[in-house]
Amino acid sequence: MSERYDVLVTRPIMDEPLARLRERCDVTVHENEFGIPRDELLQVVRGRHALITMLTEKVDAELLAAAGPQLRIVANHAVGFDNVNLHDCTAAGVMATNTPDVLTDTTADTAFALLMAAARRIGEGERFLRSGRAWIWGPLMMLGRDVHHKTIGIVGFGRIGQAVARRAKGFGMDVIYTDAIQLPAEVEAETGARRVEMDELLERSDFVSIHTNLTPETRHLFGKEQFARMKDTAVLVNSSRGPVVDEAALAEALASGEIFAAGLDVFENEPEVHPGLLTLENAVVIPHLGSATVDTRDAMGNLAVDNVFAAMDGVRPPTLLNPEAFAG
Ligand code: DGY
Repeated sequence: MSERYDVLVTRPIMDEPLARLRERCDVTVHENEFGIPRDELLQVVRGRHALITMLTEKVDAELLAAAGPQLRIVANHAVGFDNVNLHDCTAAGVMATNTPDVLTDTTADTAFALLMAAARRIGEGERFLRSGRAWIWGPLMMLGRDVHHKTIGIVGFGRIGQAVARRAKGFGMDVIYTDAIQLPAEVEAETGARRVEMDELLERSDFVSIHTNLTPETRHLFGKEQFARMKDTAVLVNSSRGPVVDEAALAEALASGEIFAAGLDVFENEPEVHPGLLTLENAVVIPHLGSATVDTRDAMGNLAVDNVFAAMDGVRPPTLLNPEAFAG
């Protein structure tokens, strides 16, 4: 039986994975609605063997050094790991893991919900009805845009992008995508998607849904120039990472009618939202809820715990991001 690990969980997670973790580890859960201030985080990581971190914590050389040489694993409770410096983890001999696959369908559902809500003015309609203003059904009232049989352009055709394509196929949509790599013919056949260049995607799509990782290359991938290329009837959906979109440019494009609407789960300076977006009726905004369902958060927690247990047992964690750090 391996030694008990001392584990810090930086935000409360679901009960079931937490109970599993407690069976084999001494666990401290940091209870703070707004996350751990950096200064405090640098203190509370000291002496831990494992950290279960959130996308809100920056995992870098400073944090790893503050934890100390006994640290074995940082299990990020998210599929995105732009908050984790893999190079620093490897240099410190610390394994880093994420939570892919278990949230793919849930996040794709969220992207599609935003797409539908933005196209059909659901948020605006709800606000209108709750305002108590007088109304009666009318042929010109609050007209949106059809979703079915339109063209969707998916930017980043990984697991979540492909899951969005499957949903779009069910709506009879024409699916095009951009990605650094050409997907195998079987994937294209199954999802009904075809790879095109970015400019073509922007010009042809009625809906553009972003599913790229955040990297230096994808920061502000969407700005003034891209919005100008899009149709003025187009809807933009972002459920990837906020900084992929230049939020000020988006607020301008929505206000001027350069594009029809946007559905946003993520923001450039999260948790802040560009004030321009908050006053626009054609922006549907939700607070980073992409994977926020009971089942999926159970699964994410369990996968993070599986990764910690693997590290304890000296076996390769199931979703290891830096194999170089695995001692075997
Ligand atoms: C992720 O996992 O990266 C999402 O953004 C949060 O669920």
